[in-house]
Amino acid sequence: MYKIKQHKLKVALCMAVQINFINNKRKRSIWVKKWMEDRNKYGHMPLLKELRQDYPSDFKNYLRMDFDTFNILLELISPIISKQNTKMRESISAEERLAATLRYLATGRSYEDLKFSTGISPSSLCYIIPETCKAIYQVLKETYLKLPKTKDDWCQVASDFKNQWQFINCGGALDGKHIRIVPPPHSGAQYYNYKNFYSIVLLALVNANYEFIYIDVGKNGRHSDGGILEYTEFYDKLTKGQLHLPNNDETEKHLNYVFLGDEAFSLHENFLKPYPQRDLSLENRVFNYRLSRARNVVENTFGLLAARFRVLHTAIHITDPQNITYVVLAICALHNFLIRRTTSYAPLRSFDHEDLATHELQMGEWRNSSTELTSLRTSTQKNVTINAKSNREKYKQYFNLEGKVPWQLDMIKKGKA
Ligand SMILES: *[C@@H]1O[C@H](CO)[C@@H](O)[C@H](O)[C@H]1NC(C)=O
Ligand SMILES: *[C@@H]1O[C@H](CO)[C@@H](O)[C@H](O)[C@H]1NC(C)=O
Ligand SMILES: *[C@@H]1O[C@H](CO)[C@@H](O)[C@H](O)[C@H]1NC(C)=O
Repeated sequence: MYKIKQHKLKVALCMAVQINFINNKRKRSIWVKKWMEDRNKYGHMPLLKELRQDYPSDFKNYLRMDFDTFNILLELISPIISKQNTKMRESISAEERLAATLRYLATGRSYEDLKFSTGISPSSLCYIIPETCKAIYQVLKETYLKLPKTKDDWCQVASDFKNQWQFINCGGALDGKHIRIVPPPHSGAQYYNYKNFYSIVLLALVNANYEFIYIDVGKNGRHSDGGILEYTEFYDKLTKGQLHLPNNDETEKHLNYVFLGDEAFSLHENFLKPYPQRDLSLENRVFNYRLSRARNVVENTFGLLAARFRVLHTAIHITDPQNITYVVLAICALHNFLIRRTTSYAPLRSFDHEDLATHELQMGEWRNSSTELTSLRTSTQKNVTINAKSNREKYKQYFNLEGKVPWQLDMIKKGKA
């Protein structure tokens, strides 16, 4: 047995909600239990070794990735998480920390519970998990999760939407979801949202391949009125003309380059949203159908994310809001990493897909294993510019005439749109 110095106040704070902190005032020390020291015998590492040899699909199920992918990730993050060695950290290898973190993300189980499979004490998990999440995001974001930088990048995004959903000039589908959390101590009603639970918001722009191309994480749940987008770096760059979007003389039909939102967002020269549900003309319904058809990628991306990383099904129980943010950033980056590198993370049947003959939507598999995350509140927009309105009218015309798809009126008649 060896002794570990009691952690700093920060960690104590983090522990206060995770477990009943054993505060031994006289000795100021915590004893590592014998069985945890023997975690290479009792913990999940020996099990994982067994699985990777004989049951690769169980290995993948357990950590959401196969052994090779796990090793690639481990190689990437090891330098970062091994950098800050203290006496205790040295004793827990990077491999163990990554496995514990991935299992946490896959299940959302409490640290007290994870203790039994990882053999790592809750007080250590309490810093290992946020630290590893932060490292995962750090090493993946540059290659796997970055905002398109040039006109060519944006044209590529648009070209994918056009090929797959016959939607032109589209830079991505935008949506926001409430991520349930246990409120940080002394945060009062700050994170309390309109659906009466505590949350932070994940706002995401998604391309036609179900990948995140921009995310904003951590605005508090109260902040859920339509304006939330306006507080992001993305919007700031858009309004300052720093996104390098294609100009109208470079876009198809010389229409504005657009992002696709829903009722939670405001109409804007570069944002399309559906026409309001009441009194829809046939032309408006065609527009709404075409918009919602292309926007389906973002609903499916969130759905798959929550099906794979079930920490999103729980109230994330971490006291520091910044550390909750790292958890969410990490799973979004992992999602992109896994979708690009492996076929098993997101086989086509995971997503909603259209029947080839009728174009009716078949439900994707995630819908059976996941609940939908809570959406943002519908925005009551005050001030829509003439240009924003006329831009939507132009897209409506386009989808009703030149840009129509043969089955759109059928879908509307059948009430499927
Ligand atoms: C947040 O995570 C860091 C590790 O990245 C840890 O040191 C710190 O104690 C955590 N903060 C809280 C309040 O849990
Ligand atoms: C979802 O579950 C139902 C009932 O268990 C099943 O009939 C259906 O095929 C499943 N759908 C998908 C897409 O897996
Ligand atoms: C509405 O938009 C117009 C033109 O962009 C602007 O001059 C005006 O101040 C806005 N009004 C409000 C209430 O935001």
